Amino acid sequence: MKKNLFIALEGIDGSGKSTQVKLLAQKLKDNGYKVHSTFEPTDNFIGSIIRNILTGKARADNRAIAGLFVADRLDHLLNEENGLVKKLEDGYTVITDRYYFSSYAYHGTHMDMDWVIQANAMSAEILRPDVNIFIDVPPEVSMKRICENREVTELYETLENLKNVREKFMEAFEKLRDKETIYITNGDRSFEEIAGDIWTKVESMLPVDTEQV
Ligand code: ADP
Ligand code: TYD
Repeated sequence: MKKNLFIALEGIDGSGKSTQVKLLAQKLKDNGYKVHSTFEPTDNFIGSIIRNILTGKARADNRAIAGLFVADRLDHLLNEENGLVKKLEDGYTVITDRYYFSSYAYHGTHMDMDWVIQANAMSAEILRPDVNIFIDVPPEVSMKRICENREVTELYETLENLKNVREKFMEAFEKLRDKETIYITNGDRSFEEIAGDIWTKVESMLPVDTEQV
């Protein structure tokens, strides 16, 4: 049966996710697909609380932050107006800039990763990505990009933390490799090379229009 893809882009801060989401969305549109691009933390009310914490306007314990992301993700999926479940039902290919692997990696550095995985089990049950694409960039490179392009840095954006987060991503991929589809691409290359890799992967997964076969 024909099924629209649900694609998650993952990576440490400054790895080039939002750049690649845009390029992939455009490529899919050029090929006639309806695309919904989105991101986490969201810009709804729970995401706004999270952004206040990330920018230092509010403070919370790391365990509370992990819980906020669980709630933000469920709203991202289930929101009646623009939730991802509805978008997929409406025929959109959905691309999200971050999903639950970000939680496993960022919160798994502060607390037991298995707790974070359990806490996100409902999201995984509702929507598991057809592919989790990890843009792998050395933390030194991503920190350089962040410092060159932004005036303020956010809560998790230190070299030491991003090194830990990258390792936790790898640990999570290893832990869940039987359940999840994971594709890792080298992000320390030109925009075009990375986009080319991602497109080759996504194109190989696109649903075949059976009526035309
Ligand atoms: P993220 O969404 O993962 O934080 P961005 O796409 O916002 O990453 O990229 C962070 C910064 O790095 C931006 O200024 C962007 O233009 C730049 N950038 C993205 N991809 C590359 C690349 N392949 N090579 C060099 N710079 C890049
Ligand atoms: P984002 O806006 O994607 O930052 P960037 O564009 O710099 O990559 O994400 C904001 C921060 O939120 C980022 O440091 C990662 C963090 N985060 C978590 O800690 N847990 C999560 O579940 C998600 C989705 C993001």
